[in-house]
Amino acid sequence: MDKILVLDFGGQYDQLIARRVRELEVYAEIRSFRKITLQQIRDEGYKGIIFTGGPHSVYGEDSPSFDAGILDCGIPILGICYGMQLMVHLSKGVVSKSIDGGEYGKRELAVGHNILFEDVPATSVCWMSHSDQVSELPSGFVSIAETASCPYAAICDETRKLYGVQFHPEVTHTEYGKTIISNFVFSICNCGKNWRMDDFISDQVSKYRDELKGKKVLLGLSGGVDSSVAALLLHKAIGKDLVCVFVDHGFLRKNEAETVEKTFRDTFDLNLITVDAKERFLKKLEGISDPETKRKIIGNEFISVFEEEAEKLGKIDVLAQGTIYPDVIESGKGDSAVIKSHHNVGGLPEHMSFEQIVEPLRDLFKDEVRKVGTELGLPHDLVYRQPFPGPGLAVRVLGEISREKLEILKEADAIFTQEIADQKMQDLTDQYFAVITSSRSVGVKGDARIYGYTIALRAVKTDDFMTAEWSRLPYELLEKVSSRIANEVNGVSRVVYDITSKPPGTVEWE
Ligand code: XMP
Repeated sequence: MDKILVLDFGGQYDQLIARRVRELEVYAEIRSFRKITLQQIRDEGYKGIIFTGGPHSVYGEDSPSFDAGILDCGIPILGICYGMQLMVHLSKGVVSKSIDGGEYGKRELAVGHNILFEDVPATSVCWMSHSDQVSELPSGFVSIAETASCPYAAICDETRKLYGVQFHPEVTHTEYGKTIISNFVFSICNCGKNWRMDDFISDQVSKYRDELKGKKVLLGLSGGVDSSVAALLLHKAIGKDLVCVFVDHGFLRKNEAETVEKTFRDTFDLNLITVDAKERFLKKLEGISDPETKRKIIGNEFISVFEEEAEKLGKIDVLAQGTIYPDVIESGKGDSAVIKSHHNVGGLPEHMSFEQIVEPLRDLFKDEVRKVGTELGLPHDLVYRQPFPGPGLAVRVLGEISREKLEILKEADAIFTQEIADQKMQDLTDQYFAVITSSRSVGVKGDARIYGYTIALRAVKTDDFMTAEWSRLPYELLEKVSSRIANEVNGVSRVVYDITSKPPGTVEWE
């Protein structure tokens, strides 16, 4: 299989680069510059190498570097940002501080005729983020693109197939970034398209079949897409040696626990243990209304339940987790297997020791995980589930949790979800749900006055959930949802729509 090496010099976009290559159906592998030698690179048979960016200056004392022989090993190289500067530095060119402090953000890029810029217009927008830049080219290199303040926005030494771009082709702000990467991968490296998610699945399955032979593996299944896909993948590899524990804390949405059980036990025949811990959680939360305290109690209780189940199972060798790449970044991008804060909790206790931790999805982005899920036959609804907080509905029942409020919320939320689906409005919003507030108001149902709860509807549009805008849902939809909730759900007298963006509001209310 043709493959590209993404040689990581500490850039924040290393995975994004790999993802761009994989989107082209070519396998890309990320290796830290510290963990691979020139000889290994030669032996691995890479068709091309991409040097990533990085926050350093090539003249820094401890700045990442590499054996200069890499430039003459006959493998085409594309250096991005720091990667390009390093290429120049290793070839005895000069890199300096940019006179005007650097370029950050969108810039107009003017390109010349070059194989790297096939199908890229003479001018387009690129994304820059650098304070240093190349000021003198090494011999053999020429400039092939520029911006107003960067005369060497792209360079090449065609004889040695060395290319460098000061901008970031991997980010979507660079208009023709994908074309540039594609030109490198196909026209310069001559890669064939032979990486698909079914390859990923078969590779991982055979890897884990060998690696986990005869071992007992435990996985906490939350019903979310990551843990579900990890479970199916490992199940394919080791069958019943994988034990999945699904803790029903009682704060799942209407019919959710049943769907998870049905899917994994009946359809996929997984070794699944469902723990009905509903009462236990409710009891622990009695009288508690502070949001953080609620979260902590749920987290701790979750650990206790999980631990108890693990103990009942006897010796478990391996803990499997549905960690995906964004989780890896959040946990500090370490090299060692960091135990991810469990989906539903604040981390597993230290004394729960396992011989090994496996995270089969740790190199994948969410969309790749979804592709794997689809290939493995996971139902569409589970593959495309919207995000759901670990503490579940507990943080959508404001204030103290009662059975009554939980039931009302489940019904109201189900109506909202159903109407969005029926009216095919899913594209207007990335996450939507109902919240039950503690505020009550007077209403009239039939001929009687009622004193019921206020339900708030929340729907947001967002790319990354760090910032979000409230979704402009059509009035007709809101009207129908409001009318159905107020009429069909006992105990509700009023429905309101949350029009707060994040910041300052958060997506969840607690
Ligand atoms: P906030 O409320 O912080 O939410 O704006 C941003 C996104 O994170 C989800 N969320 C959680 N997910 N455990 C999770 O796994 C949690 O405790 C948690 N709290 C919030 C939230 O649903 C939204 O998608």
